[in-house]
Amino acid sequence: MTRIAIYPGSFDPPTRGHEDLIRRSLLLTDRLIVAVAVNVAKQPLFSVEERLAMLRAAIGDDARVEFVAFEGLLAEFARQQGASVVIRGLRAVSDFEYEFQMALMNRQLHPALETVFLVPALDLTYLSSSLVREVARFGGEVSALVHPVVAEALRARFAK
Ligand code: PNS
Repeated sequence: MTRIAIYPGSFDPPTRGHEDLIRRSLLLTDRLIVAVAVNVAKQPLFSVEERLAMLRAAIGDDARVEFVAFEGLLAEFARQQGASVVIRGLRAVSDFEYEFQMALMNRQLHPALETVFLVPALDLTYLSSSLVREVARFGGEVSALVHPVVAEALRARFAK
């Protein structure tokens, strides 16, 4: 039986932390669906297509990984995709409450769907897309925090 996992998120933009989580996830699953959420409450910096393209560039070709956009409930999307596992990264205690709530709500909506939390590499635990956006917005150096394709996209976006 092929085990399918979903790694959902906003990825606005993808960071080295997301890349790390994707590589770690591949140790646990046969197929990984990296799922970019279309309808997040906040206005994203990058379009879904841009975020998907950046993820593809950062991860490269791997037959086990698929990059897709999804709209609506994650639990429903997981059901449609035949996924049995949701992967989320847990960076700090501050992540815990929201992640715990989300995992329990997803279980309420789809009891067979398990959430697995992965711990990122220590040197990436302080990293978040929102911090990367803020640093880049004010011209700070982000090249150590994101793939070069993402760094270039941020430069271009904030050069305007
Ligand atoms: O990278 P993020 O912003 O922390 O990702 C959050 C995301 C997109 C995984 C979450 O908001 C989500 O699953 N959205 C889809 C809508 C949904 O299912 N909401 C209920 C979650 S319990």
